[in-house]
Amino acid sequence: MSSHIATQAVHAGEERPKPYGAVTTPIVQTSTYAFVDTAEIMDFMHRKVAGDEPLRHEYGRYSNPTQTAVESKVAALEGGEKALLFASGMAAITTTLCALLSSGDHLVMVRDAYHRTWEFALTFLERWGVETTLVPIDEPDTLAAAIRPSTRLIFSETPANPYLGIIDLSRTVEIAKKHTIITIIDSTFATPVNLRPLEYGVDLVIHSATKYLGGHNDLMAGVVIGPRSVLTDIEEARGTLGGVSSPHDAYLLLRGLKTLEVRVLRQNDNARRVAQFLEGHPAIHRVHYPGLPSHPQHDLASKQMTGFGGVVSFEIEGDTGRTSRFIDLLRLPYVGPTLGSVESIVQQVAAFFSLDREEREAAGIKDNLVRYAVGIEDAGDLISDLSQALAGI
Ligand SMILES: Cc1ncc(COP(=O)(O)O)c(C=O)c1O
Repeated sequence: MSSHIATQAVHAGEERPKPYGAVTTPIVQTSTYAFVDTAEIMDFMHRKVAGDEPLRHEYGRYSNPTQTAVESKVAALEGGEKALLFASGMAAITTTLCALLSSGDHLVMVRDAYHRTWEFALTFLERWGVETTLVPIDEPDTLAAAIRPSTRLIFSETPANPYLGIIDLSRTVEIAKKHTIITIIDSTFATPVNLRPLEYGVDLVIHSATKYLGGHNDLMAGVVIGPRSVLTDIEEARGTLGGVSSPHDAYLLLRGLKTLEVRVLRQNDNARRVAQFLEGHPAIHRVHYPGLPSHPQHDLASKQMTGFGGVVSFEIEGDTGRTSRFIDLLRLPYVGPTLGSVESIVQQVAAFFSLDREEREAAGIKDNLVRYAVGIEDAGDLISDLSQALAGI
């Protein structure tokens, strides 16, 4: 198999020949797989006990052929040994943390992680005796100082929501390796087209595949990629906790993945053009985009990433009402809480985050902050639309 991501996106994980000579991988819509006789069951069970990869399927909560095809494709795209598919990004994150952490362990997490991720750490994990220290994404020395003898995991996103902060992967891995700590990167915003964290020595990569990997706003899924030795425990936990992807969602994801590189390159380009337009506009207070030299971590992002992604955040000059009016005047993007699809999606971050001002302030969410996740539309059309909305406020 070629190591080029465009070829892998189309062909990796795809059996040849497929049943009936089909070009596309079938949706195997079954919950259970029947055995022909006891000898086949015994053979299956012996392989399982020996820790060998199973040659067949048993029950839908453990595996499914459509799901297996997605897992092989995503593992190839991230350059990992193995991948596990889940019902959502949060199912991937919570199952992984449950599998790898025990009471008495300590977790270091960046403060800019997706809010449900740190909420899970500060509520559920805390209740079960796992302590979490939140650290700023751009302060490796603070991260290093947070390490304790009981620290088992470092969890970060990059770029992180909503200010597009970047974590220094080489420094983080260096700190982690010194203390034998597992590193996990939620790479949802980057995608393997722009960043391959495993190449930096990161142990596990997680995606909300609901976003760029699926790319069409028509499925929920999550994925974890890494070495077989670590994924075995997470696979066991998935079998128990049950957050598996349905065969139909797995098929949609397989289909979406084939165009991943084409979509993401277009979104990188659209976002750069939108960010440049906004940065020069008098109604904009500030633009946050790692591809702009004005981003405080632009040099790090340029060194670490091959593209800067499709999300641009920016602050509207003036009172909060102007930000809401701007959102309401936009004609092209949908207004909603997601990102990564072919359709542009926009949100006033505060509106979806919390109605409680103190909570917003504690999380650093400014009321004039807009997150614009560009789609694959024509960049000129997106900019004309932004221009008319800004003129109208
Ligand atoms: C960076 C990031 N990680 C994880 C998630 C959770 O993924 P899902 O919505 O697929 O559960 C999200 C969702 O918004 C996200 O933005």
